[in-house]
Amino acid sequence: MNLAVNGERLLQRLEELAEIGAIVGADGDRGSARLALTAEDGQGRDLVVKWMRDLGLDISIDGVGNVIATMPHPSGLSPVMTGSHIDTVATGGRFDGNLGVLAGLEVIESVMSAGDELDRPLAVGFFTDEEGARFPPDMLGSLVYAGGMTVEEALDIRAVDGARFGDELESIGYAGGAPSPGPAPHAFVELHIEQGPVLEVEDIKIGAVTGVQGISWTKVTLRGQSNHAGTTPMSMRKDPAAALFTIGAELQRIVERIGEPQVGTIGRVELVPNLVNVVPASATFTVDVRHTDDETLINVEREVAALIEEVAAQHGLLVETESLARFAPVVFDDRVVEIVERSAQQRELSVKRMPSGAGHDAQMLARVCPSAMVFTPSVRGISHNPAEITADEDLIAGCQVLCDVMLELAGTTFEEAK
Ligand code: GLV
Ligand code: MN
Ligand code: MN
Repeated sequence: MNLAVNGERLLQRLEELAEIGAIVGADGDRGSARLALTAEDGQGRDLVVKWMRDLGLDISIDGVGNVIATMPHPSGLSPVMTGSHIDTVATGGRFDGNLGVLAGLEVIESVMSAGDELDRPLAVGFFTDEEGARFPPDMLGSLVYAGGMTVEEALDIRAVDGARFGDELESIGYAGGAPSPGPAPHAFVELHIEQGPVLEVEDIKIGAVTGVQGISWTKVTLRGQSNHAGTTPMSMRKDPAAALFTIGAELQRIVERIGEPQVGTIGRVELVPNLVNVVPASATFTVDVRHTDDETLINVEREVAALIEEVAAQHGLLVETESLARFAPVVFDDRVVEIVERSAQQRELSVKRMPSGAGHDAQMLARVCPSAMVFTPSVRGISHNPAEITADEDLIAGCQVLCDVMLELAGTTFEEAK
């Protein structure tokens, strides 16, 4: 089936959803802030669910608020599923996650309007709390969908602002009754912006994503002795901030020594009491390290843990650490990657196989069905920032490739294709 998606309709929906929780960045860029399970997330959900209902899709909502909308179909067969997330970081752009959900809706609307019968249904979902910025870990909803965490465990998770996941989910009205883990789809494919610079720099239109690098998040708290900043001699301090800055500088050195694709980030820091003339009582910070090779990642985690212990001991501090997220690297199904690559070529779009630096819901669905992803270029590689931009033509091209891939997957019997 050669079906053209309606690019204008996709762009309009992206605009409309971006208005919910709209923010303006430092340079006047328009972004969105819909942290998971906030009122804004709830309003965004209501809008997308309304669009799903308008199309007559069967909607299921599970115990962590994952929403899956499936095309009615006489076969009763498992669907080809797409989807992503509509929660954002607090400084979010308009496309991260939203593109994958609304492109999926667009594919389904195009297929239903064309009236052609597929061998099996299509489905589009949005998974709760992909970002993990409020409730760690990231990809929490899709992790539960794929059976990697129970609903009960998820409901008891505390946000960085202290709120309980289950209470916040109730308050936005998205605690549903659909079973968890969710039913395994026939296959899963997710369209996402690259969120990095590679496609733009190499002037390539489509990324056929081969896998996702391993992710490790740790929360560290260093406790010392709060005291007067003017009277306490340097040699007599137990200063958690001084230790934190040494750890930060050393982390950079470790990451640079290992080289690409190793990355390391201290993204969140809290000093208590955070005052100009007070040696802090505590420093709490997060360490995010990622690599495509799990061995390397394990070694980096060990090295960073030893570094933290050593520096804390030098400063006479107590250390508490908590793992917030740990996901091994994921390799996508080569048969699906091959379909993505071929679909791009058939549309005469340049295409490159590449790994993903960011975490995605597809990496969780890969546990239960053949999965892969389609990337579309990010201008200047900027993301998690209101300045996140993808050109309209690239958004539409990505949606078109998603459509072609989903239609092909609907006719693919994986056992035979092996
Ligand atoms: C989540 O999306 C991440 O990659 O941090
Ligand atoms: Mn995302
Ligand atoms: Mn993101």
